[in-house]
Amino acid sequence: MRTTAEQKIRDKSDRDESTTNRKRQKAQEALRSIPPVSPAKGTNEMILSINALLANEFTLFTKTLNYHWNVTGPRFHSVHQFLEEHYKQFLTIIDDVAERVREIGGRPTSTLKELQDKSFLIERPGVFPRTSEMIADLLSDHETVQTQIKAIIKQCDQSDNFDPVTEDFMTNLLKQHEEMSWMLKSHLDT
Ligand SMILES: [Fe+2]
Repeated sequence: MRTTAEQKIRDKSDRDESTTNRKRQKAQEALRSIPPVSPAKGTNEMILSINALLANEFTLFTKTLNYHWNVTGPRFHSVHQFLEEHYKQFLTIIDDVAERVREIGGRPTSTLKELQDKSFLIERPGVFPRTSEMIADLLSDHETVQTQIKAIIKQCDQSDNFDPVTEDFMTNLLKQHEEMSWMLKSHLDT
């Protein structure tokens, strides 16, 4: 025969279980009331957009590295070091962007040939501009990439694509580009 204390514990446990079941049922009802979206369509579009961004980030990384190697003139040392900081930052950016593609179920563009085909930033093989032209060229590419990121942020808000995590990721990336642009611009001030 159960003691009163045992009975009380059992009653409480039954009450807890029925509360949990009610909560679970409510959560399921709430989930069912959310309008359906077509994630496959939206996600595929997002993968294409992020891969296009990845190609431009990779080109901008390569151009920054190129100018780090080839800068000449009286500001050589400071600009050489400054561009080293930027190309190292790009290594992290490229890795993060590629891994975001994986996180949403895609495959990042991973060969030089495909990255080159998808990028629309302009490279000039065999041309080694003056320091200020190098900086201005990088700045212009950063601005292009920022426009591209803003378009992806808009895409994240569209009903088929609603993706707050990618939106947050892109907002953070935009901030990094704005900061890098500010530093490049500061080198152009006379
Ligand atoms: Fe170096």
